[in-house]
Amino acid sequence: MNILSFGSLNLDKVYQVEHFVRPGETVSSLSMAEYCGGKGLNQSIAIARAGGHVWHAGCVGRADGAPLLKALADSGVDTSLVRQLDCPTGHAIIQVDRDGQNCILLYGGANQQITTGQIDQALDHFRPGDLLVLQNEISQLPYLMGAARAAGLTIVLNPSPMNASILTLPLRHVSYFLLNEVEARELCGQECRDDLLPERLLERFPDSHIVLTLGARGSIYQDAHQRIEQPAFKVDAVDTTAAGDTFTGFFLASIAQAVPVAEALKTASKAAAISVTRSGAAPSIPTKTEVFASPL
Ligand code: RIB
Repeated sequence: MNILSFGSLNLDKVYQVEHFVRPGETVSSLSMAEYCGGKGLNQSIAIARAGGHVWHAGCVGRADGAPLLKALADSGVDTSLVRQLDCPTGHAIIQVDRDGQNCILLYGGANQQITTGQIDQALDHFRPGDLLVLQNEISQLPYLMGAARAAGLTIVLNPSPMNASILTLPLRHVSYFLLNEVEARELCGQECRDDLLPERLLERFPDSHIVLTLGARGSIYQDAHQRIEQPAFKVDAVDTTAAGDTFTGFFLASIAQAVPVAEALKTASKAAAISVTRSGAAPSIPTKTEVFASPL
């Protein structure tokens, strides 16, 4: 099964801070580094490093996007469906605090220049049953989901970053939701305990597969037939940026290779745990070899 990851590509500027900047406050950062990122790029790289066959589609700026194309290609992602445009590449300003938690400010740039023509051309390369992986950092998502559904692709949605636009998407077309508890609660539209969220979501989307990530409290898979719970692997967090993307990529690569769900969840959890012990987004994503060799 082939995988099309149609998503964002960002240049991440990462600032280490004592605490996140508050309204009206000016603080000096402890350090600054630049990394390749964007939820789409991170997930593509995670899929490839996990052994999946993945094509990335999206847009970067002609003048500043080359490092992102190189990062994808170096990890084995096919970049022939990424367009280079005469506008700035998307970027993210990321603060990381002493506990490894982050907050992120996005500038969409080229990620917001996706056209219906690019979508049609990209989908032409895929067959019914192939996976389409989406997040919420590019334009034209409603058209993309409709066209992918018509072409018979299996749609995976990571509704991140969560905002009101997600609720306007044709969510009935989604086969796999990979999401955290905040995103799940927004989609459910009702308050309930975290462990009940997968069931509630399944009531709304009965044919879907739900993968709920709960950070240090592990993850839960639920479909119409089974529920599987996976505890998190315990590590000291340095930087949690891209942990969710790493989980998503490793889980999907396993599913595309028909690995049983329990094993897919465990591998994804271990890969995400390794990623939080390292700085940066894309550079923190381990390879499959590292995951299987890990003593965790
Ligand atoms: O999920 C982490 C990513 O979110 C970062 O790489 C940043 O670019 C934003 O897209």
